[in-house]
This record gives sequence, structure tokens and C-alpha cells, in this order.
Amino acid sequence: MRGYYATTALAMLLGCAAMTASAKDQAASFAAAEAAADDWAAKTEAQMTDDERFSLLHGFMPIPIGPYADPEWQAKWPKDVIPGAGYVAGVPRLGIPSQRATDASLGVTNPFGIRKGDSATALPAGLALGASFNPDLAFAGAEAVASEARAKGFNVLLGGGMNLIRDPRNGRNFEYISEDPLLSGVMGGAAVRGAQSAGVVSTVKHFSLNSNETNRHTWNAEIDEAAHRESDLLAFQIAIERGHPGSVMCAYNLVNGQKACGNDHLLNTVLKKDWRYKGWVMSDWGAVSGADFAVKGLDQQAGEQLDKQVWFDAPLKAKLADGSLTRDRLSDMVRRILRSMKANGLVDAGPAPAVDMAAHAAVARRIAEQGIVLLKNDTNALPLAANVGSVAVIGRNAHVGVLSGGGSSQGLPPRGWAASIPVGGGEGSIGAWRIERWFAGAPLAALREALPKAHVGFDPGLYPQDAAALAARSDVAIVFVSKYEAEGFDSPDLSLPGNQDAIVEATVAANPNTIVVLETGNPVAMPWLDKVKAVVAAWYPGQEGAAAIADVLTGKVNPSGRLPVSFPASTDTLPRPAIPGYGTPENTHVTATMNEGSDVGYRWNARTGVKALFPFGHGLSYTRFATDGLRTDGATASFTVRNSGERAGATVAQLYLVSRDGKPVRRLVGFQRVELAPGAERTIRLTIDPRLLADWNGTGWTIAKGDYRFALGEDAETLSTPVAVSLKARVWQDRS
Ligand code: BGC
Repeated sequence: MRGYYATTALAMLLGCAAMTASAKDQAASFAAAEAAADDWAAKTEAQMTDDERFSLLHGFMPIPIGPYADPEWQAKWPKDVIPGAGYVAGVPRLGIPSQRATDASLGVTNPFGIRKGDSATALPAGLALGASFNPDLAFAGAEAVASEARAKGFNVLLGGGMNLIRDPRNGRNFEYISEDPLLSGVMGGAAVRGAQSAGVVSTVKHFSLNSNETNRHTWNAEIDEAAHRESDLLAFQIAIERGHPGSVMCAYNLVNGQKACGNDHLLNTVLKKDWRYKGWVMSDWGAVSGADFAVKGLDQQAGEQLDKQVWFDAPLKAKLADGSLTRDRLSDMVRRILRSMKANGLVDAGPAPAVDMAAHAAVARRIAEQGIVLLKNDTNALPLAANVGSVAVIGRNAHVGVLSGGGSSQGLPPRGWAASIPVGGGEGSIGAWRIERWFAGAPLAALREALPKAHVGFDPGLYPQDAAALAARSDVAIVFVSKYEAEGFDSPDLSLPGNQDAIVEATVAANPNTIVVLETGNPVAMPWLDKVKAVVAAWYPGQEGAAAIADVLTGKVNPSGRLPVSFPASTDTLPRPAIPGYGTPENTHVTATMNEGSDVGYRWNARTGVKALFPFGHGLSYTRFATDGLRTDGATASFTVRNSGERAGATVAQLYLVSRDGKPVRRLVGFQRVELAPGAERTIRLTIDPRLLADWNGTGWTIAKGDYRFALGEDAETLSTPVAVSLKARVWQDRS
């Protein structure tokens, strides 16, 4: 299937004329399978009673803890419920299975350990995946997660999260992929394909503009339609056309004054009419506030006990009775659910194949390895010399494990949580999720294993004096700094919490040969940056993170990750220097104007003439690469990439649109991760999605006639001499 989707996506971009015979065959068999699913859905729906129809339209969260620890309620649960994120009863007489949903894209979760001892592969943060710029890895990671989900009895995966990163303080960015619509769309689409190849429905979320966690239920994102189509919507559109997710999860927030899950424009016009999306829209848990959301395009109320009412049962039946819900729409809702279940093998599912946990651990390790970004490396401080005598490892919990992000995407890996620390605070609805969890597998142990001849000492980073003392008597100091982020909360700024900056300052004052490793779910400020020799962004590196970090530090792995998000020079350079409504009580109404429009992240910096601390696309290697010979006609581009250094390694070739008819712009229009042996060279050919050159014109896309300039980028700020192309005017309707 993988080949099929890649070729169809390409064929869609190139136009049917360019389709190869085998792509045509694959497209035809895909279309036939889709038609068969539609046909089955229509026939099955026609045989249903209304009670059966409505039963598919809502489901609950089978989570027997906290306010839901009600034995009487639990006793009523159907036999096939699996405690987890979601359950929707099936209709056995018609062969319709129940829907058993689990979070999420970073691994099959086990919220609060409700399924005793049930662990699953815990992948690195979505940002690490984004940093790999490697769609094959997105496919492999999602396939691993989904096959474990299926083996545990789940058939709907609530992954993947792919909101664009508009604010580097958003608590959930670690679940997402990037600030760029092309990168997020391509990686998101590959992840959907990977998940669905395992025979589960995959969900893209949270549609749309769920860019902050502050007051997330009452946050109103105001955005201009063109800006939205060219940014967050484009990311979803690309992922949907490449991946064909069975379901789309709408967001908690409001978009232009309407709740995203009851947003007629977003759901009915954009998603279903313009994009011809055939799957179903499921709500986020607790995002529904009326039965009329069904008319506005929502197909299923999920996690219903989190809403004030089960809207999609009696209240929606009343709407059918009074005619405000048409029979056609009721059938449409049901058919959308049924067709996605059928198309993804849920209806005819045989026994789940056995899972290979060792292979999945290897995928987690590859994502960590390819996602780690070497931000700075003065005087080749890294990799550590093989004969290094003494190393000071400094920092909170570096002897315990690696940090993971909190909330509904939090996994329980096979080796478990080495530490679970209730953070406290945040009394709101998500306060209970605030538990800082460290996955077993400690960087200290991994470094000791990787450097058997060195003396590797440890200081927990409690007191600057202690850190300095250990650093002073070591050849090199490695400080691990971390920042816990979680669903439900944003952080006020980019600072590292506690006294971590002081620990780095004291360490580097004692030993200039200091390296900092960041375990964060976001960009952070580094006031000590000029003083330290090297900085490594390891994100939340997942269950195999410690070994991957040690391999990068010691040079066994040549770093190849590139930033999927700009590291801002300061919050003053952001479109919103302060988070609107930050610090107000939960559910305070706040309107956040997306004044950056579609110029998110590096595009905003280019527009405002601001330099990032580290730009999007930035990442160093232990070898050197040279790109050359850019040729483009505006539809395709080719150039060569050469490894001109002494080590094997990988780079990410990046092609940017830099001006349109003399007007500067900055848009990533193509990328490819390339692995090269020393001295090797490869010609890269990229296809440019025309939407990335265009503007949204109200009903479709317009490429204005004129001179378009393209440049290869080391990153979004370091660009080669542009190549100009003269393009003809082109206007087309939106369609996927
Ligand atoms: C999150 C979703 C998640 C759902 C079910 C919500 O709070 O926003 O991403 O899938 O819970 O756990």
C-alpha cells in the first residue's frame, strides 16, 4: 500500500497525464476498494433501525477513575470494552464491530495505568519525528503504534496530532510535527498511511487551529480565510489527500467565533465539500455543546461524559423528529462511519498479527537518532573523543531516565516509568494529567556504557557550586536540561524552569568544554548559548532516547535532524509576545488574532526581518554537505547533494520559494532527507506542490503571472543564490 499512496500523491500533483501504468492500476484498485466500502456502508445503513443508527453516533470514555469511578456504570459496560480513550457500541446483527479507540501518535497509551501492567512502545515526541524530515519513518512509527493498538484489541487510533506550531509555548507542541504546512502535511499523511496499513482507523487532529492549551475550550482563534487555507488547513489537506484517514477529530477551540466541532464552514464547506472528505468527523472529548453540531458537520460525539449532555442521542433524535436533522443527514453520518470502518478492515478483521516489540523499539530508536538536532558544535567539541578521560554528567534525573510529555499522549513503555512526579497546580479539568514522567533508560548509564574507558561522574544539578566542582575536575561536562510540557497547559515563556540556567552558567564557568543536551517539548531560551561549546536538542526522545543521545554524543550516530520549528530569539519576536488570556481562570473567553496569517514560524521571521536564535531547518552534522546546480521550472526541481566530508551522514535538502515578482516570501516548497557515504553525490528531484506558490482566492488557488525565485536552504535563513523562473498565470479550484 505504501507505494500506492506515494505514487497517487505524486500523480495528483503532476496531473493524470503523468501517471505511470502501475500508478494507474493502483489508483484504480484503491478507487474500487473505496467504492466497495461506500457500497457496503450504504446497503448496511439501509438495514438499520434508527436506534442502531444513533448508537453509532456517540460513545463514552471507558476510564474507571476519578469522577468516573462508578462501579454501577462500569457494570453496564459491554463485554468488549477495553479501558482507554473511547468506546462506541457496534451492531452485531449487521456485522458492525464496536469502535475501541486509543490514544495516540506517540504510542498506545494506558492512562493512569488503568490496564494493569499493559505497556507499549513509546516513541519520541512528534517534533523529533518532524526533525527527521523522513516520511518513511513517520510511516514506520505509526505502523508500529497501530499494530500494537490492534493487538490489544483497539481498532481506532486517535493519532495523529498535526496542528501547526504557531506558539512555541504551547504545551502540546511535542505531540505535533512542525510549523510548516508542507512538512506537517507530508509527515502527517505518511503517519496515517502507516497506521491504517495495520488495519485500524487513523485520526488526524485537532481540526483546526488548536495552537494553544490556555483556555482551550474557550479560545477563539480569529483568522482570515485565505491565511487559514494556506497554513493549518493546507497541512490537514495534504495529510488527508495523501493518507485518507478514516476520521478527522475536530478541536476544542473556536475558529472565527464558532466552536470547531460545530463549525459549519470548517466541517461542511472546507472538509466535506471542497476537499470531498468521505470519512467521519469525531469530536474531541468534551468539545460538543449542542445536538445542532450534527447539522454543522459533526458526525460523532466522542467521550460523551465529558460534555454537559449526550447530545447525539435523545436530543438529536428530537431533532430528527422535528425535521431539523434530515433523514439524509442522519444516513450520511452513519455511512461515513461505516465506510471508514469497512475501508480500513475493521469490519472483516481477523485475529491481530503478533507484534515484534524488538522491531518497534528499533523504530523508536531510529526516530530518536534521526530526530536529534545538533544545534551548535564549536571547535568540533562533538563527537566526544574516543579517548576522553573524564566526563561530568550533570542535571536533574540524568541518572534516572528521559523526560516525556504529559497528557493523553503519554505512554507506558515496556521498561516502565522510572519516575512519576505529580507536578501539582493546575486545578482545571486536566490537572490530574500533570505528572512528570521519566521513561526508564538513563543517559548517565548509556554514556557509561558508550565510554567504558572514561570516568563518568554525576552531579544532580541541585547546586551550582557542586556542578562547577565536578565540571572543573573533568575533561568535558555534559549538562542535561529539561522542561516538562503537557496537554492542558502552556508555559509563560521560553525559559528553563528552576535553576537550570544557573547550573549551566556555573558549569561552563568551571569548564569551557561544556555541552548542553535539551530534553524539551519546545524551543527554549539559552542565555548561556555563547559560552557553551555544543548544544544538542533531543526533544522528548522516547523509550530508547538515552541510547540514541549517547550514540550522537559519542559519534556512533552522525546527527541529521533539522529543526521543524524556529527557536525564537525572544518572545518579543513572536506574533503574540504574550499568550492571550494566560493566567486567567480556566474557561475564560479569549480571542486570539492570528495576525501572522499564513506566515507561521520562519515565514513570520522572514516577513518581519527577524533572525531566529536557530532557524527552521537548521541542524549540524559531523560531516559536510554541498548542494549545487539548482534547476527548476516551478513544477519540479533538481540539484545535486554531495557529502564533502569524511564521515557517512544524512542531510535534509530544502528548497524554498524566496520571492514572487520581486516581493520577498519564504516558503518551503520541497525537501528530502539524503543519506550519503563520504565523497558520494546524488541528484535529487523534487515535485513542487503548486499550492505552495499560490494564494487562496476565495474559491480556489491563483498563481499570478510573474518571476518566481527559488533557493536551496541550509535552513530557512541560509539560502543559495536564487534561480528565477517565469510562470504563467494559473487559477484552479480547490480539490483533493
Ligand atoms: C485530547 C485528544 C485525545 C482525547 C482522548 C482529549 O483531551 O485533546 O487529543 O485524543 O482527549 O483521550
